[in-house]
Amino acid sequence: MRRIPSARDMQSQALEWRASGKRIAFVPTMGYLHEGHLRLVDEAKRRADIVVMSIYVNPTQFGPLEDFEKYPRDLERDAAMAEARGVDCLFIPDSADIYPPGHQTFVTVEDLSRGLCGVFRPGHFRGVATVVAALFLIVQPHVAVFGEKDYQQLKVIQRMALDLHMPVEVVGLPTVREATGLAMSSRNAYLSEAEKLEALKLGRAILLAQDLARGGEKRVAVIAEKGRDLLAEGGDLRIQYAEIVDAETLASLEVLDKPARLILAVYINKKRLIDNGPL
Ligand code: PAF
Repeated sequence: MRRIPSARDMQSQALEWRASGKRIAFVPTMGYLHEGHLRLVDEAKRRADIVVMSIYVNPTQFGPLEDFEKYPRDLERDAAMAEARGVDCLFIPDSADIYPPGHQTFVTVEDLSRGLCGVFRPGHFRGVATVVAALFLIVQPHVAVFGEKDYQQLKVIQRMALDLHMPVEVVGLPTVREATGLAMSSRNAYLSEAEKLEALKLGRAILLAQDLARGGEKRVAVIAEKGRDLLAEGGDLRIQYAEIVDAETLASLEVLDKPARLILAVYINKKRLIDNGPL
């Protein structure tokens, strides 16, 4: 596996691959890899000749009081995992490369960034869209693979690629869960064993909502309330939001009459967790 730290070298390598007719698949990450990331690699391998993974903890998507400094990082562990799973090229830029001196260009995806996490993490999706746009221009992928765990992020990126006529297919893959039902996340490294147990309520709330929907319940308020009640049991978890939205536009729904998504954000002690599932 090749490691490329420079944006310029990455871009010229990508253009060379393209010129020789190779298809490039891209898996952008912030590192501290887990099985969820590696499944994205598996899918990328199925769809292209060359798989590029980036590892870059992007400062512009973190708020001033968020965990940018302490976000878990372990490049050597990540590189070994990526190589073992068949990544061909690891792009590991630094901030001076991604954001050249004097940088002042940002990408904003308006409506999709506003609700849900956008309310509580102002500027987050602007940072995500900006870095992903830059990464797409550097890596020149034909296809890019993201997890549905960050469902709003996936929708923001798909919209950005469409609106800006980016010649890249943005693919979303279902969330990978531990055997317990806990959605895999690099940030699970912050959780104690007791907090992990508490966090299982997110997956359970999603299953409950899915059962209710399958059983014919169409009233969003009823499903959301039952989900919230389950999350609130025991009182150790604080709900930031629990919303059922249109799966494409992320607009609020009153009735389940189209593909929908239950999207959750909670705090367990000071640790924020998100999860979601289709309804
Ligand atoms: O999902 C992530 O890991 C990040 O938000 C991404 C897409 C790599 C952009 O920094």
